[in-house]
Amino acid sequence: MTVYDVIVSRRTIRRFTQKPVDPGLLRTFVNAARLAPSAANLQPLEYIVVTEKNLCAQLFETLAWAAYIQPKWTPSEHERPTAYIVILVNDTKNPYYHRDVGLASANIVLAAEAEGLGSCILCNIDKKKIQRMFMIPSVLAVDSVIALGYKAEKSVVEDMDDSVVYWRDEKEILHVPKRRLEDVIHLNGFP
Ligand SMILES: Cc1cc2nc3c(=O)[nH]c(=O)nc-3n(C[C@H](O)[C@H](O)[C@H](O)COP(=O)(O)O)c2cc1C
Repeated sequence: MTVYDVIVSRRTIRRFTQKPVDPGLLRTFVNAARLAPSAANLQPLEYIVVTEKNLCAQLFETLAWAAYIQPKWTPSEHERPTAYIVILVNDTKNPYYHRDVGLASANIVLAAEAEGLGSCILCNIDKKKIQRMFMIPSVLAVDSVIALGYKAEKSVVEDMDDSVVYWRDEKEILHVPKRRLEDVIHLNGFP
């Protein structure tokens, strides 16, 4: 697969098989994040890799899933992520740290896709609980969590009409509306 193929095929996945993820593979995902572009090369990010079953179970309780799916939905016990990467920031005054997080997160989810894994970036999280759970020193702030594991659901892109709301069909396939290329591209400026 080319990088472009990986980008096109990646979708957020929220249901996983219970096959464990090799810690060595997770290490390569953090390495991909470490090597991402960084504003002024300040590199304010650090990462907690979580694979241990009890910790995964505790971390799961701090996460909120798929806000558009109603009634409220959360992965069942046999479809939870089997690994996580928690993203930490050592300088929240850095005006560009959100961009660094975005780029590092993209590297992680794309590296995961290239290895056949699914992922979900989560910002709807209980940061205080996560800070306590991992005894994270106060000089580091919790930014987000990336859930990872082998895919147990299918997600497809739809051309977006008037709603950004994703939905599941009767076969439990997730449909994700995306703005059409022609609606976002402006060749040589605006007419
Ligand atoms: C910054 C950010 C925060 C997100 N937070 C959550 C979250 O808390 N819970 C969740 O289930 N999905 C979350 N997502 C996943 C988005 O819902 C998903 O990316 C979006 O629906 C588009 O689907 P796609 O990733 O398959 O293109 C987040 C994504 C991003 C980029």
